[in-house]
Amino acid sequence: MKIAVLPGDGIGKEIIAETIRVLGRLGLSFEFEQAPVGGAGYEASGHPLPQATLALAKQADAILFGSVGDPKYDSLESSKRPEQAILGLRKELALFANLRPAQVYEELAAASALRPEVVAGLDILIVRELTGDIYFGQPKGIRRHESGGREGFDTMRYTEAEIRRIARVAFGAARKRGKKVCSVDKANVLETSRLWREIVAEEAKQFGDIELSHMYVDNCAMQLVRNPKQFDVIVTGNMFGDILSDEASMLTGSIGMLPSASLDANNKGLYEPIHGSAPDIAGKGIANPLATILSAALMLRHSLNQGAAAERLDRAVKQTLRDGYRTADIYTAGTRKVSTVEMASAVAERL
Ligand code: IPM
Ligand code: MG
Repeated sequence: MKIAVLPGDGIGKEIIAETIRVLGRLGLSFEFEQAPVGGAGYEASGHPLPQATLALAKQADAILFGSVGDPKYDSLESSKRPEQAILGLRKELALFANLRPAQVYEELAAASALRPEVVAGLDILIVRELTGDIYFGQPKGIRRHESGGREGFDTMRYTEAEIRRIARVAFGAARKRGKKVCSVDKANVLETSRLWREIVAEEAKQFGDIELSHMYVDNCAMQLVRNPKQFDVIVTGNMFGDILSDEASMLTGSIGMLPSASLDANNKGLYEPIHGSAPDIAGKGIANPLATILSAALMLRHSLNQGAAAERLDRAVKQTLRDGYRTADIYTAGTRKVSTVEMASAVAERL
């Protein structure tokens, strides 16, 4: 099993190193190959997604990704910004289906910003379309405007085919869970969303056992904090999914807990925590490695056909939390505050 390891910037390096160490305890044979990406890619070769890094990602069985971004690159032109690395990988590898599960571990219900009874037992899956929408729609740019100043513009667009394939992923995922899909759009205002809603409803006919509902994105943002347990699978476009998944992460106590999988049509995937590079805490050894470790579990399950190992890893994380280990982001009184390395060691011991 050949894994392309792309640690990236900020805390990416620390959490990836620890995740590799934990994976090493599973007794499986991995071949890890590392390459720079994001700001690190820019430093190494003048581009956030160096050719060699892309080539490695293309030939690997799966990609383990840390995080990219650093304020010191804020003034670079957009094509050189670290974020272009992850956007480029998603597009080049056609990773259109982004799975972002948000689960509340019993032990962490008190760490949520919401009352424990609102979030206890929460288990939702956000299925975010990842290679279309206003992120990639052309034209985009900044140009002179007739009023004298400049105007910035981006284009929101979705083709029927793009909507259909992500809808199918969501319905298929719901079939293995609570059998409910809520499709989120802004069909009261946007044409893109009107087509989205129509096509999702059409695809639903092939999945008679799944209950489909539709919700406007503003309402969904509100319902996620009012009564998040009403949701099972949420399917939505690239930008709404970006925003809602950050919101959903806080229901679980910390954005440091949420893994993600970005899959192509053949289940080859890129696996990354949904949090960013957190430059404010980079190098301090306090970042939570669990989102990355849980991303590795998704990798074992979805791309490497190692369901049993994924199960072991998930269980080890649960046991670690049960035993009271907490990084700073999920610390509550009466638990044991640990560093990045100590947290990963605790998981490794429980394997
Ligand atoms: C995410 C991130 C990215 C996105 C950034 C880093 C480009 O926020 O994966 O959610 O907007 O998709
Ligand atoms: Mg985001």
